[in-house]
Amino acid sequence: MFAVYAESFSTDDPLSGLVVGERPDPEVPDDWTTVEVKASALNHHDLWSLRGVGLREELLPMILGCDAAGIDADGNEVLVHAVIGDPAWRGDETEDPRRSLLSERFQGTFADRVAVPRSNLVPKPASLSFEEAACLPTAWLTAYRMLYVQGGLKPGQSVLVQGAGGGVATALITLARAGGLQVFATSRDEAKRARALEVGAHASFETGARLPERVDAVMETVGAATWNHSLRSLRPGGVVVISGATSGPNPDSTELNRIFFLQLRVIGSTMGTSTELGRLVSFLDATGTKPLIDRTLPMSEARDGFAAMHAGEVFGKIVFSR
Ligand SMILES: NC(=O)c1ccc[n+]([C@@H]2O[C@H](COP(=O)([O-])OP(=O)(O)OC[C@H]3O[C@@H](n4cnc5c(N)ncnc54)[C@H](OP(=O)(O)O)[C@@H]3O)[C@@H](O)[C@H]2O)c1
Repeated sequence: MFAVYAESFSTDDPLSGLVVGERPDPEVPDDWTTVEVKASALNHHDLWSLRGVGLREELLPMILGCDAAGIDADGNEVLVHAVIGDPAWRGDETEDPRRSLLSERFQGTFADRVAVPRSNLVPKPASLSFEEAACLPTAWLTAYRMLYVQGGLKPGQSVLVQGAGGGVATALITLARAGGLQVFATSRDEAKRARALEVGAHASFETGARLPERVDAVMETVGAATWNHSLRSLRPGGVVVISGATSGPNPDSTELNRIFFLQLRVIGSTMGTSTELGRLVSFLDATGTKPLIDRTLPMSEARDGFAAMHAGEVFGKIVFSR
Protein backbone atom coordinates (compact mmCIF):
# COMPACT_ATOMS: atom_id res chain seq x y z
CA MET A 1 0.00 0.00 0.00
CA PHE A 2 0.99 3.66 -0.35
CA ALA A 3 2.86 4.92 2.73
CA VAL A 4 5.10 7.72 4.00
CA TYR A 5 7.79 6.26 6.24
CA ALA A 6 11.11 6.75 8.04
CA GLU A 7 13.98 4.75 6.60
CA SER A 8 16.82 6.28 8.65
CA PHE A 9 17.50 8.98 11.27
CA SER A 10 19.35 12.29 11.06
CA THR A 11 19.45 14.96 13.76
CA ASP A 12 20.56 17.74 11.40
CA ASP A 13 18.75 16.73 8.21
CA PRO A 14 15.65 14.80 9.35
CA LEU A 15 14.02 14.87 5.89
CA SER A 16 16.90 12.79 4.46
CA GLY A 17 15.39 9.64 6.01
CA LEU A 18 11.84 10.31 4.77
CA VAL A 19 10.48 8.04 2.00
CA VAL A 20 7.22 8.41 0.06
CA GLY A 21 6.61 4.96 -1.39
CA GLU A 22 5.11 1.53 -0.72
CA ARG A 23 4.94 -0.61 2.44
CA PRO A 24 3.18 -3.91 3.22
CA ASP A 25 -0.31 -3.76 4.77
CA PRO A 26 -0.12 -3.55 8.59
CA GLU A 27 -0.55 -6.70 10.68
CA VAL A 28 -3.88 -6.81 12.54
CA PRO A 29 -3.58 -8.46 16.00
CA ASP A 30 -6.63 -9.90 17.84
CA ASP A 31 -9.01 -7.17 19.06
CA TRP A 32 -7.52 -4.75 16.51
CA THR A 33 -9.16 -3.53 13.33
CA THR A 34 -8.21 -1.67 10.17
CA VAL A 35 -9.16 1.90 9.29
CA GLU A 36 -9.09 3.19 5.73
CA VAL A 37 -7.35 6.55 6.13
CA LYS A 38 -9.14 9.52 4.55
CA ALA A 39 -7.02 12.23 6.16
CA SER A 40 -4.12 12.48 8.59
CA ALA A 41 -2.29 15.42 10.15
CA LEU A 42 1.41 16.18 10.58
CA ASN A 43 2.82 16.75 14.08
CA HIS A 44 6.22 17.82 15.32
CA HIS A 45 6.37 14.26 16.65
CA ASP A 46 6.89 13.06 13.06
CA LEU A 47 9.97 15.28 12.76
CA TRP A 48 11.27 14.02 16.12
CA SER A 49 10.81 10.44 14.78
CA LEU A 50 13.02 11.26 11.76
CA ARG A 51 15.64 12.54 14.23
CA GLY A 52 15.48 9.22 16.10
CA VAL A 53 13.65 10.60 19.14
CA GLY A 54 11.04 8.17 20.51
CA LEU A 55 11.62 5.62 17.72
CA ARG A 56 14.15 2.77 17.90
CA GLU A 57 16.44 2.09 14.93
CA GLU A 58 15.66 -1.65 14.88
CA LEU A 59 11.99 -0.80 14.20
CA LEU A 60 12.82 0.97 10.89
CA PRO A 61 11.32 1.25 8.35
CA MET A 62 8.38 2.77 10.25
CA ILE A 63 5.29 4.38 8.71
CA LEU A 64 5.00 7.85 10.28
CA GLY A 65 1.86 9.66 11.47
CA CYS A 66 -0.09 9.63 14.74
CA ASP A 67 -3.36 11.15 13.54
CA ALA A 68 -6.07 9.70 11.32
CA ALA A 69 -9.71 10.07 10.42
CA GLY A 70 -11.28 7.54 8.10
CA ILE A 71 -13.69 4.64 7.64
CA ASP A 72 -13.62 1.59 9.90
CA ALA A 73 -14.22 -2.00 8.81
CA ASP A 74 -18.00 -1.61 9.44
CA GLY A 75 -18.25 1.51 7.27
CA ASN A 76 -18.40 4.02 10.18
CA GLU A 77 -16.70 7.42 10.01
CA VAL A 78 -14.15 7.45 12.84
CA LEU A 79 -11.18 9.20 14.44
CA VAL A 80 -8.26 7.16 15.70
CA HIS A 81 -6.99 7.70 19.24
CA ALA A 82 -3.19 7.56 18.85
CA VAL A 83 -2.21 6.32 22.34
CA ILE A 84 -1.71 2.54 22.27
CA GLY A 85 -1.81 1.19 25.81
CA ASP A 86 -1.05 -2.22 27.28
CA PRO A 87 -4.28 -4.30 27.14
CA ALA A 88 -3.81 -5.17 30.85
CA TRP A 89 -3.60 -1.49 31.90
CA ARG A 90 -6.56 -0.01 33.81
CA GLY A 91 -7.09 3.72 34.35
CA ASP A 92 -5.71 6.80 32.56
CA GLU A 93 -3.93 5.37 29.50
CA THR A 94 -1.53 8.35 29.33
CA GLU A 95 -0.05 7.12 32.64
CA ASP A 96 0.52 3.57 31.36
CA PRO A 97 4.34 3.16 31.44
CA ARG A 98 4.10 0.67 28.53
CA ARG A 99 2.05 2.97 26.28
CA SER A 100 3.27 4.13 22.89
CA LEU A 101 1.98 6.40 20.14
CA LEU A 102 1.14 5.15 16.67
CA SER A 103 4.38 5.25 14.61
CA GLU A 104 6.60 4.51 17.65
CA ARG A 105 6.06 0.73 18.02
CA PHE A 106 3.11 0.14 15.69
CA GLN A 107 2.89 1.39 12.09
CA GLY A 108 1.50 4.93 11.75
CA THR A 109 -1.26 6.69 9.87
CA PHE A 110 0.47 8.15 6.77
CA ALA A 111 -0.77 5.26 4.63
CA ASP A 112 -3.81 3.83 2.86
CA ARG A 113 -4.68 1.79 5.96
CA VAL A 114 -3.75 1.71 9.65
CA ALA A 115 -4.31 -1.08 12.19
CA VAL A 116 -5.48 0.00 15.67
CA PRO A 117 -7.14 -1.53 18.75
CA ARG A 118 -10.93 -1.42 18.34
CA SER A 119 -11.13 0.51 21.63
CA ASN A 120 -9.13 3.35 20.01
CA LEU A 121 -11.94 4.30 17.61
CA VAL A 122 -14.00 7.42 18.38
CA PRO A 123 -17.04 8.34 16.21
CA LYS A 124 -16.49 11.31 13.87
CA PRO A 125 -19.29 13.90 14.09
CA ALA A 126 -20.93 15.01 10.83
CA SER A 127 -20.02 18.62 11.73
CA LEU A 128 -16.31 17.95 11.10
CA SER A 129 -14.76 17.03 7.76
CA PHE A 130 -12.24 14.16 7.66
CA GLU A 131 -9.50 16.79 7.31
CA GLU A 132 -10.69 18.69 10.41
CA ALA A 133 -11.20 15.51 12.42
CA ALA A 134 -7.66 14.35 11.57
CA CYS A 135 -6.27 17.37 13.49
CA LEU A 136 -7.76 16.27 16.80
CA PRO A 137 -6.06 13.08 18.10
CA THR A 138 -2.62 14.57 18.87
CA ALA A 139 -2.33 18.39 18.80
CA TRP A 140 -5.90 19.27 19.73
CA LEU A 141 -6.25 16.53 22.34
CA THR A 142 -2.96 17.63 23.91
CA ALA A 143 -4.23 21.22 24.03
CA TYR A 144 -7.58 20.15 25.55
CA ARG A 145 -5.90 18.16 28.33
CA MET A 146 -3.38 20.96 29.04
CA LEU A 147 -6.09 23.59 29.52
CA TYR A 148 -9.00 21.75 31.06
CA VAL A 149 -7.59 18.63 32.72
CA GLN A 150 -4.00 19.29 33.87
CA GLY A 151 -4.45 23.09 34.00
CA GLY A 152 -7.94 22.81 35.55
CA LEU A 153 -8.88 26.17 33.99
CA LYS A 154 -12.34 27.66 34.39
CA PRO A 155 -14.20 30.33 32.36
CA GLY A 156 -13.03 33.82 33.28
CA GLN A 157 -9.43 32.83 34.10
CA SER A 158 -6.46 34.04 32.05
CA VAL A 159 -3.90 32.08 30.05
CA LEU A 160 -0.72 32.77 28.08
CA VAL A 161 0.05 30.53 25.06
CA GLN A 162 3.73 30.52 24.04
CA GLY A 163 4.73 30.14 20.34
CA ALA A 164 1.41 31.03 18.71
CA GLY A 165 1.98 29.45 15.32
CA GLY A 166 2.31 25.79 16.26
CA GLY A 167 -0.29 23.09 15.84
CA VAL A 168 -0.72 22.66 19.60
CA ALA A 169 -0.50 26.44 20.16
CA THR A 170 -3.25 27.36 17.67
CA ALA A 171 -5.43 24.65 19.24
CA LEU A 172 -4.72 26.11 22.70
CA ILE A 173 -5.70 29.62 21.60
CA THR A 174 -8.90 28.46 19.89
CA LEU A 175 -10.01 26.10 22.70
CA ALA A 176 -9.15 28.62 25.41
CA ARG A 177 -11.24 31.34 23.74
CA ALA A 178 -14.14 28.92 23.12
CA GLY A 179 -14.00 27.94 26.80
CA GLY A 180 -14.37 31.53 28.03
CA LEU A 181 -10.78 32.32 29.01
CA GLN A 182 -8.84 35.59 28.63
CA VAL A 183 -6.15 34.61 26.11
CA PHE A 184 -2.68 36.09 25.53
CA ALA A 185 -0.26 34.62 22.97
CA THR A 186 3.37 35.18 21.96
CA SER A 187 5.16 34.60 18.68
CA ARG A 188 8.53 35.50 17.18
CA ASP A 189 6.80 36.51 13.98
CA GLU A 190 4.68 39.64 13.45
CA ALA A 191 2.36 37.99 10.92
CA LYS A 192 1.73 35.07 13.31
CA ARG A 193 0.97 37.54 16.13
CA ALA A 194 -1.69 39.11 13.92
CA ARG A 195 -3.14 35.72 13.03
CA ALA A 196 -3.23 34.73 16.71
CA LEU A 197 -5.75 37.54 17.21
CA GLU A 198 -7.87 36.22 14.33
CA VAL A 199 -8.10 32.73 15.88
CA GLY A 200 -9.10 34.02 19.31
CA ALA A 201 -6.28 35.65 21.31
CA HIS A 202 -7.35 38.89 23.04
CA ALA A 203 -3.78 40.23 22.69
CA SER A 204 -0.51 38.98 21.25
CA PHE A 205 3.08 39.91 22.07
CA GLU A 206 6.63 39.41 20.86
CA THR A 207 8.29 36.37 22.40
CA GLY A 208 9.66 37.43 25.81
CA ALA A 209 7.71 40.73 26.03
CA ARG A 210 6.32 41.86 29.39
CA LEU A 211 2.55 41.24 29.64
CA PRO A 212 0.13 43.97 30.80
CA GLU A 213 -0.88 41.73 33.72
CA ARG A 214 0.19 38.38 35.15
CA VAL A 215 -1.86 35.33 34.15
CA ASP A 216 -3.41 32.37 35.99
CA ALA A 217 -1.76 29.84 33.67
CA VAL A 218 0.87 29.48 30.93
CA MET A 219 0.75 26.79 28.27
CA GLU A 220 4.29 25.76 27.26
CA THR A 221 5.38 23.76 24.23
CA VAL A 222 8.42 25.85 23.22
CA GLY A 223 10.68 24.94 26.16
CA ALA A 224 14.08 26.55 26.83
CA ALA A 225 13.48 29.64 24.67
CA THR A 226 10.38 30.74 26.60
CA TRP A 227 10.62 28.99 30.01
CA ASN A 228 11.86 31.98 32.03
CA HIS A 229 9.26 34.27 30.48
CA SER A 230 6.58 31.71 31.31
CA LEU A 231 7.53 31.71 35.01
CA ARG A 232 7.80 35.52 35.10
CA SER A 233 4.33 35.87 33.53
CA LEU A 234 2.49 33.89 36.24
CA ARG A 235 0.60 35.38 39.18
CA PRO A 236 1.48 33.93 42.61
CA GLY A 237 -0.06 30.46 42.83
CA GLY A 238 -0.29 30.20 39.03
CA VAL A 239 0.34 27.09 36.97
CA VAL A 240 2.57 26.36 33.98
CA VAL A 241 1.51 23.30 31.99
CA ILE A 242 4.22 21.90 29.72
CA SER A 243 3.79 19.32 26.97
CA GLY A 244 6.79 20.00 24.73
CA ALA A 245 10.23 21.59 24.44
CA THR A 246 10.72 22.33 20.74
CA SER A 247 13.61 24.77 21.36
CA GLY A 248 15.35 22.43 23.85
CA PRO A 249 14.83 20.93 27.31
CA ASN A 250 17.42 22.92 29.31
CA PRO A 251 16.56 26.57 30.08
CA ASP A 252 19.41 28.86 31.28
CA SER A 253 17.84 28.93 34.73
CA THR A 254 15.06 26.80 36.20
CA GLU A 255 14.28 29.68 38.63
CA LEU A 256 13.64 27.40 41.60
CA ASN A 257 13.49 30.41 43.94
CA ARG A 258 10.64 31.94 41.96
CA ILE A 259 8.76 28.61 41.87
CA PHE A 260 8.74 28.10 45.65
CA PHE A 261 8.48 31.74 46.71
CA LEU A 262 5.48 32.46 44.47
CA GLN A 263 4.09 28.93 45.04
CA LEU A 264 3.95 28.25 41.31
CA ARG A 265 2.90 24.83 40.05
CA VAL A 266 4.67 23.08 37.16
CA ILE A 267 2.59 20.32 35.59
CA GLY A 268 3.52 17.99 32.75
CA SER A 269 0.93 16.91 30.21
CA THR A 270 1.04 14.25 27.51
CA MET A 271 -1.62 13.56 24.88
CA GLY A 272 -5.00 12.67 26.46
CA THR A 273 -7.29 9.74 27.11
CA SER A 274 -9.78 8.25 24.68
CA THR A 275 -12.57 9.63 26.91
CA GLU A 276 -11.05 13.12 26.66
CA LEU A 277 -10.86 12.77 22.87
CA GLY A 278 -14.61 12.02 22.89
CA ARG A 279 -15.20 15.11 25.08
CA LEU A 280 -13.09 17.27 22.77
CA VAL A 281 -15.17 16.10 19.79
CA SER A 282 -18.36 17.00 21.72
CA PHE A 283 -16.89 20.41 22.69
CA LEU A 284 -16.20 21.25 19.03
CA ASP A 285 -19.56 19.87 17.91
CA ALA A 286 -21.44 21.92 20.54
CA THR A 287 -19.55 25.21 20.02
CA GLY A 288 -19.10 25.01 16.23
CA THR A 289 -15.33 25.43 16.79
CA LYS A 290 -13.16 24.05 13.96
CA PRO A 291 -9.48 23.13 13.90
CA LEU A 292 -7.34 25.62 12.01
CA ILE A 293 -5.80 24.00 8.93
CA ASP A 294 -2.72 25.73 7.53
CA ARG A 295 -2.82 23.68 4.30
CA THR A 296 -4.12 20.37 2.96
CA LEU A 297 -1.78 18.39 0.71
CA PRO A 298 -2.23 15.08 -1.07
CA MET A 299 -0.31 12.49 0.99
CA SER A 300 1.94 11.93 -2.04
CA GLU A 301 3.24 15.51 -1.41
CA ALA A 302 3.94 14.87 2.27
CA ARG A 303 7.58 15.90 1.89
CA ASP A 304 6.49 19.53 1.25
CA GLY A 305 4.53 19.50 4.50
CA PHE A 306 7.48 18.13 6.48
CA ALA A 307 9.75 20.79 4.93
CA ALA A 308 7.36 23.60 5.91
CA MET A 309 7.15 22.36 9.51
CA HIS A 310 10.94 21.94 9.68
CA ALA A 311 11.33 25.57 8.51
CA GLY A 312 8.72 26.79 11.05
CA GLU A 313 6.53 28.10 8.22
CA VAL A 314 3.24 26.89 9.68
CA PHE A 315 0.20 28.46 11.28
CA GLY A 316 -2.18 25.72 12.35
CA LYS A 317 -2.21 22.12 11.13
CA ILE A 318 -0.75 20.59 7.99
CA VAL A 319 -3.16 17.91 6.79
CA PHE A 320 -2.55 15.08 4.31
CA SER A 321 -5.54 13.75 2.38
CA ARG A 322 -5.93 10.44 0.52
N1 LIG B 1 3.49 15.77 25.13
C1 LIG B 1 2.65 15.56 24.12
O1 LIG B 1 1.75 14.72 24.18
C2 LIG B 1 2.79 16.39 22.90
C3 LIG B 1 1.76 16.41 21.95
C4 LIG B 1 1.88 17.26 20.84
C5 LIG B 1 3.03 18.02 20.72
N2 LIG B 1 4.04 17.93 21.63
C6 LIG B 1 5.27 18.74 21.50
O2 LIG B 1 4.90 20.12 21.50
C7 LIG B 1 5.75 20.85 20.63
C8 LIG B 1 4.91 21.60 19.61
O3 LIG B 1 4.32 20.65 18.74
P1 LIG B 1 3.57 21.14 17.43
O4 LIG B 1 3.17 19.91 16.68
O5 LIG B 1 2.57 22.18 17.80
O6 LIG B 1 4.82 21.82 16.65
P2 LIG B 1 4.86 22.98 15.59
O7 LIG B 1 3.53 23.02 14.89
O8 LIG B 1 6.09 22.77 14.80
O9 LIG B 1 5.00 24.31 16.51
C9 LIG B 1 6.19 24.76 17.11
C10 LIG B 1 6.01 26.23 17.56
O10 LIG B 1 7.01 26.49 18.56
C11 LIG B 1 7.45 27.83 18.45
N3 LIG B 1 8.93 27.83 18.50
C12 LIG B 1 9.77 26.94 17.96
N4 LIG B 1 11.05 27.26 18.24
C13 LIG B 1 10.99 28.40 18.96
C14 LIG B 1 11.98 29.25 19.55
N5 LIG B 1 13.29 28.99 19.43
N6 LIG B 1 11.57 30.35 20.21
C15 LIG B 1 10.25 30.62 20.35
N7 LIG B 1 9.27 29.84 19.81
C16 LIG B 1 9.65 28.76 19.14
C17 LIG B 1 6.99 28.38 17.13
O11 LIG B 1 6.12 29.43 17.38
P3 LIG B 1 6.27 30.87 16.64
O12 LIG B 1 6.85 30.60 15.28
O13 LIG B 1 4.87 31.39 16.60
O14 LIG B 1 7.18 31.71 17.48
C18 LIG B 1 6.27 27.22 16.46
O15 LIG B 1 5.09 27.66 15.87
C19 LIG B 1 6.71 19.82 20.00
O16 LIG B 1 7.93 19.83 20.72
C20 LIG B 1 5.99 18.50 20.18
O17 LIG B 1 6.85 17.40 20.23
C21 LIG B 1 3.93 17.13 22.71
